[in-house]
Amino acid sequence: MSHVIEKLFAREVLDSRGNPTVEVEIHSGTKFGRFIVPSGASTGEHEAIELRDGNDRFHGKGVLNTISKIKQEIFPKIKGFQVSDQEGLDNLLIDLDGTVNKGNLGANAMLGISIANLKLAAKIEDKRLFEYIGSGTRLPCPMLNVINGGKHAGGNLAIQEFMLMPIGFDRFSEALRAGCEVYQELKKYLKKKYGGSAINVGDEGGFAPPIDQTKDALNALIESIENSGYSIEDQFYIGIDAAASEFYNEGKYFIDGKSLETEDFVAYYEEIIDAYPILLSLEDPFYENDFTSFSKLVSKYQRSKSIVGDDLTVTNVNRINMAIENNAMNYLLLKVNQIGTYTESLQAFNLTKSKDWGVVISHRSGETEDTFIADMAVGLDAERIKTGAPARSERVSKYNQLLRIEEYLGDNATYCNKL
Ligand code: PGA
Ligand code: ZN
Repeated sequence: MSHVIEKLFAREVLDSRGNPTVEVEIHSGTKFGRFIVPSGASTGEHEAIELRDGNDRFHGKGVLNTISKIKQEIFPKIKGFQVSDQEGLDNLLIDLDGTVNKGNLGANAMLGISIANLKLAAKIEDKRLFEYIGSGTRLPCPMLNVINGGKHAGGNLAIQEFMLMPIGFDRFSEALRAGCEVYQELKKYLKKKYGGSAINVGDEGGFAPPIDQTKDALNALIESIENSGYSIEDQFYIGIDAAASEFYNEGKYFIDGKSLETEDFVAYYEEIIDAYPILLSLEDPFYENDFTSFSKLVSKYQRSKSIVGDDLTVTNVNRINMAIENNAMNYLLLKVNQIGTYTESLQAFNLTKSKDWGVVISHRSGETEDTFIADMAVGLDAERIKTGAPARSERVSKYNQLLRIEEYLGDNATYCNKL
């Protein structure tokens, strides 16, 4: 039986920072799919455009114009479209937009429709979302962002994210439990060392202590892992997201109270990697157009370190092709709202996989209760997921969805404990 898009609702709702965002609901018969679009703070300059009203409401961040565009301009063109033809729908949206950066319809409008339709399609086939997305049965390694710096915190710590990676476990639920235990140990450690206000949390639920040196943050993680009785490297690794574009200016990086030339910043990483073998994953270690420095780290460490492109590649196949030409990474950070449709996200995923590189499915710092990325990570068999600390419900909701999926899969569930 054919199922077509019959009704559409679009509304302005809130994200985890109290900013407005787009929610889209698409109906066919008695079923519907719904998606809320997330939003970044340390956005890459090559990301697709998120359209906001720019008037008095919500300090310019309102999305009412985007909502009326969805209802009045886009809906009449997609009404009656086959729900099962995701690629056709996404291509139609891309054609209607007609720009390279989604500046006409807005990536927030397009993504709302795209993922709402995908979720509806899964319901029509009576499948769980992850099963509809793909045949994966492996749970991803969570990258738990437990110390927040950079734009997500507001202190003097340059590096934006310090993440626990509980790799040496057999099941996702065990890995997550270990991550939560270390998070609570870290809370104790920070409170004792830096005082009560050190355990206030940043945008992604990680603590935002008054630390200004990268090494102090790494030491805090290592001590907390040890204090929890877990073993360094066997069970836990650490990942960082430098989000280096945010502390780069005219050839210099401002970090640890110093200003470093690019070459010195490469040496800085080499020194840290030598001193901290536990450091496994480095995301956006350099600013978003410096493919050359990225490739220096890839050439030196090969697959022993994960060099992750986020602002560098913005889930865009053209940028990923540039990374391939420059051998500039070996892991893709995939954020659906960086590109604006499910189909293009899938193309970015497949291109990355054609190089046998890994993929981290990622949230945004402005998130919602929507758990789509958890299903996406399992369905596509992505190695890792980055969705914040085990705190604040917009982060925890994804981890909880992964727990449900693991339970549902039972003995068929595996866990990605790949380095
Ligand atoms: P953002 O941060 O959502 O603010 O861009 C996440 C990241 O940089 O990975
Ligand atoms: Zn990032």
